[in-house]
Amino acid sequence: MPLLYWGLAFVGHVGIWCATFNFLHSTALVRWARKTSEIFVLCFLVFPVLFLLWQIFGWLTSGSVNPTLIGDHPAGRTYSFVTTVIAFPTLVFWCLRKFSSTRPDGVIDFSQHRESMKSDSGRPLLHGRVASLLGLLPMNESLTISTDRSTIELDVPRALDGLRIVHLSDFHLTGKVDRRFFEKIVDQSNAFDPDLIIISGDLVDKRECLSWIDSIFGSLQSKHGCYFVLGNHDARVGDTEDLCRRLQDSGLIHAGGRWRKTDINGASVHIAGNELPWFSGAEYLPLSADSTPEEPGTQPDLKILISHSPDQLEWAKPFNFDLMFAGHNHGGQISFPLVGPIIAPSRYGVRYAAGTFQIGPMLMHVSRGISAEKPIRWNSVPEVGLFTIRAADKTR
Ligand SMILES: [Fe+2]
Repeated sequence: MPLLYWGLAFVGHVGIWCATFNFLHSTALVRWARKTSEIFVLCFLVFPVLFLLWQIFGWLTSGSVNPTLIGDHPAGRTYSFVTTVIAFPTLVFWCLRKFSSTRPDGVIDFSQHRESMKSDSGRPLLHGRVASLLGLLPMNESLTISTDRSTIELDVPRALDGLRIVHLSDFHLTGKVDRRFFEKIVDQSNAFDPDLIIISGDLVDKRECLSWIDSIFGSLQSKHGCYFVLGNHDARVGDTEDLCRRLQDSGLIHAGGRWRKTDINGASVHIAGNELPWFSGAEYLPLSADSTPEEPGTQPDLKILISHSPDQLEWAKPFNFDLMFAGHNHGGQISFPLVGPIIAPSRYGVRYAAGTFQIGPMLMHVSRGISAEKPIRWNSVPEVGLFTIRAADKTR
């Protein structure tokens, strides 16, 4: 078989199993079922590599290649044909994504500043054998912090011109990354002197880190509140009601499955939270904060959605949100040169892995997040996002 055929078959193979992996992680499957299916998917994904090693072993030991499972067996021939065909839309999608990732018109300015904490002090910032080993990998950016500043133009009254929103997501407090890293994130967030802080889920993974809540989340400073939703990893602490209570005791405001209202310079800002599909509540949310069965409610000056997963963007459309903040995808965590990320736990795959997107009249920002279950990040640096709002029509 020509090399090009097998190359295309490999691309299609990776495309199929990455899409399966991404879809499984976008669902609310119970953990043991998701982990089991994950093992199967990974086995299928690495099969061509094992096959190649087997061929090389055969060539080294006997001077000839082994009879090929893929090439000779009818099932193998069919599968390789199917994956070769699938390779074409996969390649088109990957290339289009790379070339079409332009900044939406609503983002009028963007800048990024990176700072590494690796040499912050003599004391290690990664704990445990696996995390420490991952920390030794070249170009691992798990301990680098990127402050991403965006200026966005919205159709809001002049009272909201200059509003500063900090977006943080996916802290994943596990104990593997030292508390000092998250305290640095808090310092950077507070340095922006924000009007609002938005946290889009996955705050605490391990019960042992519940005692960190006060010193990390309790230290966040925001003039008009710090709003959060839970993410799928927050369920790992067991009692999520207790987790919410602790977070609220530290000063945070839970927006999951409800509306929250605040007044900023005389302008009304309404914030809703969506924790679907892992926690219910948002499916019963009225279209506006003031809705009653008799009255549809009024449209506030600024309407914000916090959702752990960007997959909820279809759910969001009837609400006419101005802004949507999401996380969950971690920017794919590993982003390859030219290709970009290939894994993201979303039904849209890597389409909304990270970045700012125009979804109809709504601007959606998907954060790369701050940490992860395993501290490994290549070309997907932890993010502190600052959004400064400019009123499009300053006559209002
Ligand atoms: Fe996460």
